[in-house]
Amino acid sequence: MIPFGDIKRQYLSIKDELDKHLLNVLGSGMYILGDQVKQFENSFANYCGKKYGVGVNSGTDALILALKLCNVKPGDEVITVSFTAIPTISAIYAIDAKPVFVDIGDNYTMDTSQIENNITDKTKVILPVHLYGNASDMDPIVEIANKYNLKIIEDCAQSHGTMYKGNKVPISGLGCFSFYPSKNLGAFGDGGMIVTDDIELYEKLILMRNYGQKQRYYQVVEGINSRLDEIQAAILNLKLKYLDKWNSRRSEIAKMYFEGLKDNKDVVLPLDAENSDQVFHLFVIRHRDREGLMNYLTSKGVQTLIHYPIPNHLQEYYLKNFDRRFNLPKTEEYSKEILSLPMFPELTDEEVAEIIRFINAYSSLK
Ligand SMILES: Cc1ncc(COP(=O)(O)O)c(C=O)c1O
Repeated sequence: MIPFGDIKRQYLSIKDELDKHLLNVLGSGMYILGDQVKQFENSFANYCGKKYGVGVNSGTDALILALKLCNVKPGDEVITVSFTAIPTISAIYAIDAKPVFVDIGDNYTMDTSQIENNITDKTKVILPVHLYGNASDMDPIVEIANKYNLKIIEDCAQSHGTMYKGNKVPISGLGCFSFYPSKNLGAFGDGGMIVTDDIELYEKLILMRNYGQKQRYYQVVEGINSRLDEIQAAILNLKLKYLDKWNSRRSEIAKMYFEGLKDNKDVVLPLDAENSDQVFHLFVIRHRDREGLMNYLTSKGVQTLIHYPIPNHLQEYYLKNFDRRFNLPKTEEYSKEILSLPMFPELTDEEVAEIIRFINAYSSLK
């Protein structure tokens, strides 16, 4: 069987080093907001080319806190994409704000030409998502945000190391990461981080993620409990050393897919094959007979997934709770055709070759 993902393979590849490191942390007696979290906040922010990082409990919490930090209030509007993981939008719901959905372009990120038409006096934030490891086109987003005095929050949950025009994301003021185990940089549980260059935002976030306390038992701002824990931070500190190597391996695998599938007329490959600075969190193809191909691959023991089968503006929850309807042709069409192939650094060349063989064999069956 070729699994869609296998985080145990990654654990086994660094087991000795990681076990030793974790035992040290377990023996330290410091489990919440200690040295590991501080170190990881510094080194991950530095990795992203940002000054500050605030470790939190999940990527969803990172987005919720960032929205609160941007002063988004109930009823305010956030311009984002429907073509994203549910939590991008759950974060908006969590503060009773409203998502305003725009369509996507051919690299599955925000179609920036649709932003301006959707700005109202309720709009507070533009929230692009660097989906699958692809960077959103940030220059026009920054320009529009400046013109209308809006804030930008970048959902970087799938883009650890993604570059946009030579710089790592986030490009603007606030970037929200997830360290969910299957991410390019994943913990062994939940975790997230907000990175920024803005010291005022940083100082406020440090309080907000810890009950709003300035010091123990003295509360100065609204806050929750959303702390990255020491054990997860320790794992992430160690794994960060390998992130670039793992991302390079993802690119190698992507190259094999591109090469092996380029002559297959049934398959639409991701954009920007050669010169992309994306980090291939997922390798997503499109296929008109997506269900047929998926079933065929399953019958051959190859696991695939769909990210995501139902866009957020068509989810049951949205339809029940919001009146506004959106016309998003690409989002809807692509949702029916996308298929994510196995993509993780420990996938072997032989496994990738086998997946390619099966996909091409399926095309020649017809
Ligand atoms: C695009 C995107 N945004 C947000 C999240 C939320 O992250 P978490 O699962 O850590 O809350 C995820 C992860 O699932 C994601 O893929």
